[in-house]
Amino acid sequence: MKILMVCLGNICRSPMAHGIMEKKIREQNLDWEVDSAGTSGWHDGQRPDARAVKVSKNKGVDISDQISRKIRYEDIGNYDLILVMDVSNYQYVMELSTQAGTKANIQLIMNFRYPNRNMSVPDPYYDDKFEEAFDLLDETMDYVIKSLLKENYTINLLADYTRNQCK
Ligand code: 4NP
Repeated sequence: MKILMVCLGNICRSPMAHGIMEKKIREQNLDWEVDSAGTSGWHDGQRPDARAVKVSKNKGVDISDQISRKIRYEDIGNYDLILVMDVSNYQYVMELSTQAGTKANIQLIMNFRYPNRNMSVPDPYYDDKFEEAFDLLDETMDYVIKSLLKENYTINLLADYTRNQCK
């Protein structure tokens, strides 16, 4: 399973989501990969916002080594799941997918926690609410993982069934 976290600048929300998921993958021994990117490219080559690094560090997640990059056409086909932080990111990535001519599984991350409400992760860049954003992402990520494991389980069951039918 390859997952890409996406926000506007790739220096606040998606790096925190990336770091949180990375930690949970490690803790739960999952064979998954995660990366993050931004839709704007405004902070290409930069480390995450110092406030995001500090709050994450206090909560046991190291995001200090991440480097901001803009999402690319190739990302669309390279990830099984693209998790976006807000509706504007969603529109951007959907458009990129159309232009690339590649279908992708693009989801608002908050829909895993509050289904069908199309809620956004509030951007802490402007209001400084980094701790709130981190906690929201941390809680939501458990729902993401639970849902993906259930999906995987169903896919594996189907694969077993098909194999047995072919014997
Ligand atoms: P992010 O937050 O999308 O969560 O990384 C932002 C980072 C930078 C800017 C806006 C939002 N900016 O205007 O530079």
